[in-house]
Amino acid sequence: MRLALMASVAAAGLLTNAPASKAAGDLNLICSADVVICEMMQQMFEKDTGIKVNMVRLSSGETYAKVRAEARNPKTDIWWAGTGDPHLQAASEGLTQEYKSPHLDELQDWAKKQAESSGYKTVGVYAGALGWGYNTDLFKQKNYKEPKCWADLLHPSLKGEIQMANPNSSGTAYTALASLVQIMGEDKAFDYLKQLNANVSQYTKSGSAPVKAAARGETGLGIVFMHDAVAQTVEGFPVKSIAPCEGTGYEIGSMSIIKGARNLDNAKKWYDWALTAQVQSHMKDAKSFQLPSNKTAEVPKESPRFEDIKLIDYDFKTYGDPTERKKLLERWDKEIGANAN
Ligand code: G6P
Repeated sequence: MRLALMASVAAAGLLTNAPASKAAGDLNLICSADVVICEMMQQMFEKDTGIKVNMVRLSSGETYAKVRAEARNPKTDIWWAGTGDPHLQAASEGLTQEYKSPHLDELQDWAKKQAESSGYKTVGVYAGALGWGYNTDLFKQKNYKEPKCWADLLHPSLKGEIQMANPNSSGTAYTALASLVQIMGEDKAFDYLKQLNANVSQYTKSGSAPVKAAARGETGLGIVFMHDAVAQTVEGFPVKSIAPCEGTGYEIGSMSIIKGARNLDNAKKWYDWALTAQVQSHMKDAKSFQLPSNKTAEVPKESPRFEDIKLIDYDFKTYGDPTERKKLLERWDKEIGANAN
């Protein structure tokens, strides 16, 4: 996989043509997307700039917690990707640094809005809708009906067949929680999650793990971003992705410079670089099928299109607010997490 990735990046000319200018210092990056795209971005940036990148992959909620814990002595320069809500929370707590990239005007409105609403302390890098992926072979064998709606996931036949992530660590699962609250109202959403809990075999740490398990037949279905389900189908697994009939939420995957970054110049270089159409057009090479934020970046043909999905008007301001996020997570811990199977 890694070799194939390097080959496609090299073929695109990014690795070979770029002069490796010597730059001072390294770049300490936390990447909250999937590890394959994280590694590809790291390698592309190193080749394009000559700046060494120390990268760790952490889920969105975990990154927020780390950035917060290290606020007085930041060890991270830049946080790329992961769902927007924890980035917004970090922005409103003053943990991230204001920056206006010269590339802002090249971005889709939803990405620019993310920057404006946070006082330019974060920005949108991609978007993707929430749904699920299920293993078509396993469903056929066990004679399960295709679940088209959130309500169908409560069917007793699916006991032990569903996985989703834990919304404390995972931005994907927090997006699911906040979307259900917006669709049903808070109390009904928690009733729903309690019933769903009977069918959930595991709450994973990372957001896309559930559909990877479904792809391998370890579980029947994973509640994930639809593009993560599509990635498994493209890998050749018997996975079908579904957009829930009642409607669903979406993420604005984001990027933030950490306040007090030791390598601020390099962080800005990454920031500007990651917003270019050229870089974003390569995400598909790592089977990352989100919708890019740069208007002229290529939208992969495999990407689930927002026009085909019943999307709610996700309220990023409210659900990225520290008080609301904390409140929902505490209620989830008490009413769902504490009773997990
Ligand atoms: C996957 C998706 C990304 C998303 C990320 C969130 O990598 O492809 O679009 O931003 O999950 O990860 P998390 O582990 O925080 O749910």
